[in-house]
Amino acid sequence: MKLTNYVFSIGSFWRRKIKRFGVYEKVVPVQTTPSRIVPDHIEKPYYVTGQEFTVPKVPEIKDVNQIRGMKRSCKLASNILGQVQHLVKPGISTDDIDKLVHNLTIEAGAYPSPLHYHGFPKSVCTSVNNVAVHGIPDLRLLQDGDIVNVDITVFYKGFHGDCSKTFLIGSVDDRGLELVGVTEECLEIAIRSCAPNVPFSEIGSQIYRHAKKCGLTVLPAFLGHGIGRYFHGPPNIYHIINDYPGYMQSGMTFTIEPVLSHGHENTVILEDGWTVVTDDGSRAAQAEHTVLITENGAEILTK
Ligand code: MF3
Ligand code: CO
Ligand code: CO
Repeated sequence: MKLTNYVFSIGSFWRRKIKRFGVYEKVVPVQTTPSRIVPDHIEKPYYVTGQEFTVPKVPEIKDVNQIRGMKRSCKLASNILGQVQHLVKPGISTDDIDKLVHNLTIEAGAYPSPLHYHGFPKSVCTSVNNVAVHGIPDLRLLQDGDIVNVDITVFYKGFHGDCSKTFLIGSVDDRGLELVGVTEECLEIAIRSCAPNVPFSEIGSQIYRHAKKCGLTVLPAFLGHGIGRYFHGPPNIYHIINDYPGYMQSGMTFTIEPVLSHGHENTVILEDGWTVVTDDGSRAAQAEHTVLITENGAEILTK
């Protein structure tokens, strides 16, 4: 089944390409189910209620109460990601993942942040194989050899917590394993480099260097971000060499979320306005944590 793409693709050019990137199915979005409903008692973020809210213009230094809030929401996000781990296997759909994430989030008294964020129709992002980011959960069944990133953000007691992981479905080919492994290493190395007075730009240098050493490409279009009562705010966290200004300070919370591929850097947004695929059809993997800068380093809040 995994060989379909490779054996039946037309022309020697594509045959060579697919072989070069490994053995997997190039996916396209299929039919999905309606947006899930959130009960009235769940506190909604400002982009759902239409309330006025101003995202800070500069990276925010959180006080003890805000840090407590971030720890709570991040812990919930990572807890739900951990439960997804037990569900993902061949034969379940990404919409099944959406249903689980949605229900667990609501059971915990939180709101699934992606739902209706700038019009996103689902409660989680699920990105399979050549989908780089922002995949919309749908009725396609996961199959042996797929890789799927599940990106969970929850809004809990006024704060967002954001994390993602790329899961392996059944037996994934060596190129796929390497891609997912190196992506996780990039995130780890970047987090280890964080501390007060380190430039934000250091994160990109670290990630770029490790990816390059391993022969993989960092997709430059996707940035980490400050996070708090807002989903996305300053600082921007580039994952490649960059000259973004500013330094980390104790009390800042932001995400690091590199996306790597086997191919070139370019991506395309599909008709649905969300699904981002690699231009060359190569697979992409992502890993994401929300971190807190502390006196002597960084604490992973979504561990
Ligand atoms: N969770 C993604 C991030 O890491 C953002 C998803 S936005 C959505 O920043 F609208 F697609 F959900
Ligand atoms: Co995310
Ligand atoms: Co994020």
